[in-house]
Amino acid sequence: MFTIRLAFGLRLILATLLFSSLAQAGPISTGHVSDRGQRAYPRRTLGGVSVIDTPIVRAAETFARQHGQDFVYKHIMRSWLFGTLIIQHNETLRATVDPEVHAVAAILHDLGWDQTDGSPMVSPERRFEVDGAIAARDFIRSHSHGKRWEERRVQLVWDAIALHTQDSIALFKEVDVQVVQKGVVMDFEGPKFGVTEDEYAAVAREFPRDDLQHGVNETITWLCTTKPKSTYDTWMQPWGEHFVPNYTAVGSRVFDRLLS
Ligand SMILES: *[C@@H]1O[C@H](CO)[C@@H](O)[C@H](O)[C@H]1NC(C)=O
Ligand SMILES: *[C@@H]1O[C@H](CO)[C@@H](O)[C@H](O)[C@H]1NC(C)=O
Ligand SMILES: *[C@@H]1O[C@H](CO)[C@@H](O)[C@H](O)[C@H]1NC(C)=O
Repeated sequence: MFTIRLAFGLRLILATLLFSSLAQAGPISTGHVSDRGQRAYPRRTLGGVSVIDTPIVRAAETFARQHGQDFVYKHIMRSWLFGTLIIQHNETLRATVDPEVHAVAAILHDLGWDQTDGSPMVSPERRFEVDGAIAARDFIRSHSHGKRWEERRVQLVWDAIALHTQDSIALFKEVDVQVVQKGVVMDFEGPKFGVTEDEYAAVAREFPRDDLQHGVNETITWLCTTKPKSTYDTWMQPWGEHFVPNYTAVGSRVFDRLLS
């Protein structure tokens, strides 16, 4: 009896040890893939999507969550997952996009939307896309996790964020920049670029889209109100004209002078 109980206890301890080591190894136990630099990255599954799981990507997620409202956090996570699906459906992109650059850029692309009073990341005069790009660059430099990022990779993140609302430029840049833009767009326009309805729905179940429209509308109106000059003559101008009193008075389009 005693030996049976001991054996059972031992099995329990062994099972517990095994389980906790598996739990610790959880994020990296789902396999490795290589990127264009032939590096293997640990992975985890999120919203049905297998994504890269490195310390800086985890830190970026935490940082974005701390510096964005709930709807922003869900939007940037979906944008990352949609971009990842785009890459996975395209052999060329799988071979060429740097998954860590893509992840960090997608996750940090809306830091310029931080409405916290006195946020150091929101300037009084720059476009929010540029605020976000600068904040992401600062983040990367202060969170290098023991390994300094090459300037080229930092530059790609900066460009991807600064241009993520301008497809007329972003789509002619590096693949990493293109995929960030496409992932963000998919959150507004539904599945495309090879991504299926089912994949899209699984991501939206993990990070629901119900508050996206209201949140974006409120945020763009906030930008047009608090720093109108950085929104005039951009895709945000219609919000200012609809919702902000005297908005057009702030405008002075450079090229208007050529017409008069
Ligand atoms: C894959 O991505 C490349 C680079 O963006 C693009 O040129 C190509 O058309 C894509 N292939 C498919 C099948 O969509
Ligand atoms: C967008 O925001 C404006 C200003 O707050 C508001 O008047 C309008 O009803 C909102 N529209 C939607 C679709 O949420
Ligand atoms: C808009 O401009 C007009 C004319 O300059 C001014 O009388 C009015 O107070 C302004 N409204 C707001 C909300 O600033």
